[in-house]
Amino acid sequence: MQLAVIGAGYVGLVTAAVFADLGNKVMVVEIDGEKIEKLKQGEVHFYEPGIKELIQKHIITKNLQFTGDYKEAMWGVEFVFICVGTPTKNKKADLSYVYSAAKSVAENLKSPAIVVIKSTVPPGTNIELEKWMRKFTKCNISLASVPEFLREGKALEDSLHPHRIVIGAEKKKVVNKLLALHEKLPGERVICNCASAQMIKYASNAFLPTKISFANSVSVLCDKFGANVEDVMRGVGLDKRIGPDFLSAGLGYGGSCFPKDVAALISLSKDVGYTFDILQAVEKTNKKQISYFVKKVFKRCGGSVKGKTLTVLGLSFKPGTSDMREARSFYIIKKLRREGAKIKATDPVAISEAKKVIKGVKFCEDPYEALSGANALLLVTEWEEYQKLDFDKIKKLMHNLVVIDGRNFFDRKKLEKLGFTYEGIGK
Ligand code: UGA
Repeated sequence: MQLAVIGAGYVGLVTAAVFADLGNKVMVVEIDGEKIEKLKQGEVHFYEPGIKELIQKHIITKNLQFTGDYKEAMWGVEFVFICVGTPTKNKKADLSYVYSAAKSVAENLKSPAIVVIKSTVPPGTNIELEKWMRKFTKCNISLASVPEFLREGKALEDSLHPHRIVIGAEKKKVVNKLLALHEKLPGERVICNCASAQMIKYASNAFLPTKISFANSVSVLCDKFGANVEDVMRGVGLDKRIGPDFLSAGLGYGGSCFPKDVAALISLSKDVGYTFDILQAVEKTNKKQISYFVKKVFKRCGGSVKGKTLTVLGLSFKPGTSDMREARSFYIIKKLRREGAKIKATDPVAISEAKKVIKGVKFCEDPYEALSGANALLLVTEWEEYQKLDFDKIKKLMHNLVVIDGRNFFDRKKLEKLGFTYEGIGK
């Protein structure tokens, strides 16, 4: 089948690469000319395991093409996937990119098409959007909503082996066409109307942060009562009704989705006269966890960080990505610098992204160089490679043997045996 994907961002490129891999002809439209030129050469502007290879493969098979021209992409297209960003503006989802993309699609369509919204948009957006698009086209268009549930760093795995495919559409014919398009993918099918599909996305991206904030609150109590939050959440998560995932206490959630979608759902609720109390608490708890960690740093640095050299290990919002959006490192470093700490920082892939948003920090590619002369090691992002760090070597480099582990990542016993002071979260 012939598809157009609007937006060569994260969701757009993964969607395009996966549908190309399933044997469809996919044209990606992107307004950023520089991005398009790079993509045509098989270069991807973000780090995501496997995506570059898949794109390069389908540039060769000609299943995947890139253009800046809507007209070219709309020629004979059966499905158009709108995958542009919906950033936060005044705590709401900013739909201006969605509307502008939809207008360009409508203006250039030559034949009937199904327009699928993949961007995360408030429930009901499709109704207004369809009216909007009709102003610019005489072609028969049908709107549908097929939300994306991929995780950064695991995008291909999640897209090729989804647990569920949610298809929101008002017409049976559209549902059937979308079912056929997704035929080769596994996962339960959830067929519903557009508003429900959009609500499934928001509710999922609000429920997972709720689990995280809950685990973080429990971690504070664990610290107070001498319990171990890892044992506690393992015990809790074994209850099948609760489930083990997203119960890891640490520094809280970041990234391009959870903070934005929690804020948007709180705001959407207010718009219809409802106060989503739980989500307000989830947000508040997430912020508090940063202060909680910083307090631990103070405690382990003798009450003050002024003039102390603190080394931050891991900068991206989570391992497996260079994405710095809402990264916990940003907030932690900001607070510690304000208190007079000297920060050295390292990350396996995110240093160049981090440099754009974090100032006044000495960035080191080599973690050992970053740790040289440090008064404390602050583990902020749990990159797997940090498990292989040689703490015998680190012992000789650090000024004080203090590890403050924001992700309960290191082995306390091993470090204490080597003479380190160890502070985790809730253990
Ligand atoms: C999230 C969802 O997991 C995806 O299902 C969704 O499709 C995506 O948002 C989106 O809307 O596009 P992502 O932002 O890539 O995916 O990252 P996650 O792996 O979910 O992690 C989010 C944050 O939660 C990270 O900062 C992570 O460190 C934190 N986290 C996660 C915890 O603090 N504890 C946990 O137990 C799990």
